[in-house]
Amino acid sequence: MYRSRFTENLDERTLDYLSSISEDKEIAPYDIWGSQAHTIMLYENKIITKKETTKILSSLEELKKENLSIKSDSEDIHELIESLVIKKAGKQAGGKMHTARSRNDQVSLDIRMKIRDDINTICSCLLEMIETLVSLAEKNSDAIMPLYTHLQQAQVGVFSHYLLAYADALFRDLDRFYVTYGRVNESPLGAGPIGGTSLPIDRQSTARMLGFKGLVENSIDATGTRDFVAEYVGQVAILMTNLSRLAEDFIIWSTSEFSFIELSDKFASTSSVMPQKKNPDILELTRGKTAQVIGYQMAILSNIKGLPSGYGRDLQQIKTSIWPASKIAISALLVNNAMLKTMKINKHKMKKALDSGYSISLDIAEHLVKKGLPFRTAHKIVGQLVQTASNLKKPLSSLSLPEIKKSLSGYKIDLKELYRVIKSMNAHSSLEQRTSHGSSGKSEQQRMILDRKKKIQAYRIGTVKRTNEVKVAFENLAAKIKTITK
Ligand code: ARG
Repeated sequence: MYRSRFTENLDERTLDYLSSISEDKEIAPYDIWGSQAHTIMLYENKIITKKETTKILSSLEELKKENLSIKSDSEDIHELIESLVIKKAGKQAGGKMHTARSRNDQVSLDIRMKIRDDINTICSCLLEMIETLVSLAEKNSDAIMPLYTHLQQAQVGVFSHYLLAYADALFRDLDRFYVTYGRVNESPLGAGPIGGTSLPIDRQSTARMLGFKGLVENSIDATGTRDFVAEYVGQVAILMTNLSRLAEDFIIWSTSEFSFIELSDKFASTSSVMPQKKNPDILELTRGKTAQVIGYQMAILSNIKGLPSGYGRDLQQIKTSIWPASKIAISALLVNNAMLKTMKINKHKMKKALDSGYSISLDIAEHLVKKGLPFRTAHKIVGQLVQTASNLKKPLSSLSLPEIKKSLSGYKIDLKELYRVIKSMNAHSSLEQRTSHGSSGKSEQQRMILDRKKKIQAYRIGTVKRTNEVKVAFENLAAKIKTITK
């Protein structure tokens, strides 16, 4: 349809190479709504007549109900929809739909509307998953476990503390999407191919009709930029990285060696040959899909970085990285949330793991610090005790007074008192004494759980409000279309 200056057509293979029609399925509905808002604006600014407007709007209404055939000789969804409108409304009316716009502002508009909806979906899925983590934390603030650094036992902790750490990571993901939404939710429509138009359009009016908060003002920027896409997919990549780390922990903790958790059968797979297997495939796929999303982000940035300003067809390829990134993020959140809700937590195994390690060491060192010893000296003393206990293959609490005396012969400290302290120290007392802000301590768990519950509420109100604003804008637009076409 566009090839007015040419005498020859594209052959089939070349058209297939050029065309984005198959990936444009995702933006087809947005393209129709965007075209309707644009048409109404043209009418309201006396650029087209009422009759032409009605014809175009009715044709677009019909297209909403049709299954837009992917197989066509159009280069993309914009050409396909315009050609179908012309077929239905006639050239006189339908041929006016593309007045004062270009595919360049149009495709950017469609992508923004799609990402806007995806962000709202992701935010509400994130809130669901955070809520699950916080409620699991509430049920597991007594599940004493080792905390690991380098995957070696580090300090005594509780499972709730671990779960809240991931709730906080997901809160940051949520906040990133939340802020990015403001930058995505601006309309590029009416920017034309790059430099604007001499026709008396009203960009604010189309932006309002489509529920945007404002404009991407500069027409060069509006048509040529995809930084908002890099920002969005980058955030999906960070979110997935957080989910991937969580998955990695749960893969390790569901081994028979750890058995801290057990996945419900609904979220486990087995082997085609070894009937005993209960494999954490869902969690492994979270790791695998994360790698995929990181690849999408690389593809987007590589696409943009060498592009001169203004639209270049390279940008068409970016879309193939957006849709699957959204799909992966949404499904990862839904599936992992459901998995969390059904998994079994083995508090006994978690506690038992502590008995085999020396996680109490720092607590003993801190006791010596409270007695006035420099931390470095306390570190050395406890290090020596751990070495002795480890050589004797026993826990610190089983060291006898003579063993302690022998181990620490060079130190002028009250070893009897130290012996008593080591004997009386256990995971519970360790957690009771851990009072620092944000620590594993019991009172901190309660405080953080309460605080995060309030935070969920606040974000939920904001997310619902935004989703509703878009919904209401489309309802109003639908009503406007009805009034004009009746
Ligand atoms: N199919 C194109 C894309 O997805 C639409 C814009 C084409 N614009 C152009 N000037 N060739 O990016």
